[in-house]
Amino acid sequence: MTTTSVSRVFNFSAGPAILPVPVLQQIQDEMMSLPGVGASVLEISHRSKDFDAILDDAKSRIGQLLGMPDTHDVLFLQGGSALQNVMMPMNFLTDKSQTTDYIISGAWSKKSAAEVHRFGNLNVAWDGSDDGFSRVPKQSELKLTPGAAYCHLTSNETIHGVQYHQLPEAGSPLVVDKSSDMFSEPIDVSKYGMIYACAQKNCGVAGVNVLIMDKALLERCDDRLPSYLNYALHSEKGSRFNTPPTFAIYVTGLVCKWLQDEMGGLEAVAKFNRSKAQLLYDVIDGTDGFYIGHAAKEDRSIMNVVFKMADADTDQRFLDEAASNNMTTLKGHRSLGGIRASIYNAMPLEGVQALAQFMKDFAQKNG
Ligand SMILES: Cc1ncc(COP(=O)(O)O)c(C=O)c1O
Repeated sequence: MTTTSVSRVFNFSAGPAILPVPVLQQIQDEMMSLPGVGASVLEISHRSKDFDAILDDAKSRIGQLLGMPDTHDVLFLQGGSALQNVMMPMNFLTDKSQTTDYIISGAWSKKSAAEVHRFGNLNVAWDGSDDGFSRVPKQSELKLTPGAAYCHLTSNETIHGVQYHQLPEAGSPLVVDKSSDMFSEPIDVSKYGMIYACAQKNCGVAGVNVLIMDKALLERCDDRLPSYLNYALHSEKGSRFNTPPTFAIYVTGLVCKWLQDEMGGLEAVAKFNRSKAQLLYDVIDGTDGFYIGHAAKEDRSIMNVVFKMADADTDQRFLDEAASNNMTTLKGHRSLGGIRASIYNAMPLEGVQALAQFMKDFAQKNG
């Protein structure tokens, strides 16, 4: 991690979230003029050869990082993951009599499922709300539909801190919201029908959604769809059906370059992420119940570490004292309370070490 003379806090925000310092520095260096262009990325046409180079570079780096097969394409869309929740059933359910399976393991997959009824039948293959969304299902618990149009899940539930460490067998194309764990570890892209991720957590800034799409699914997108909402059209136009979020695509390219050149690729990133998460979970497990983790141990997220203390007043004191020690945005989501430490790829080890030490000290003083 490159250091900077500017004073920065350890920012544990769930999103928009921390960016790698070298990426911020490159953005700063190139803001007035991209090398060889003489103008800012903010000022050039999305149809210029200079922007072509930026988009093509981002696309090919994503493909390299993920080891993406030719069967899949990368798309850059707008509207956040919220729009993907609508576009998926709109594009992949070709008539209203079709059924799609949704696995509900937290607030985000629940939101996704809520859009389906407009376009076809929803089968909730599993719903973890009775357990307070503290785990992912076992394969044997899934009630899947034979011949389902697709099966949706959220690989990392950002609010509840629950993550799949093994993908279920769905029996239909797997469509996965990876908004909060994209590029956090290697994946086998051939197992996915579609992946989508809003960039503002682990792969850039707000404004772009990164999609990995099995081209076979594009056959389902027909001409009755409104043009902007048709995946096939975006693929055909190379993510330039209209003006794409140029700056956000540029930043995603820089983040991918950082992951490749400075972090050493996704195997190394996964090792780094697991060791950071372990530091915090070891404190949670080692303080005699002072910290109460939300997720079941085997399904704990390596991106969002969610816990609380015995009462809301102690949580608040924790937040206040952490903030005065330069560790910010640790407040849990308003629906759950408590504490959430988001430790995405760009969070340096020193930030997690500082938080782990703070947690130990706080437990000792208040336990
Ligand atoms: C897992 C997950 N899905 C979807 C979203 C929503 O993303 P957006 O605000 O880009 O629509 C979030 C973000 O907060 C998220 O964490």
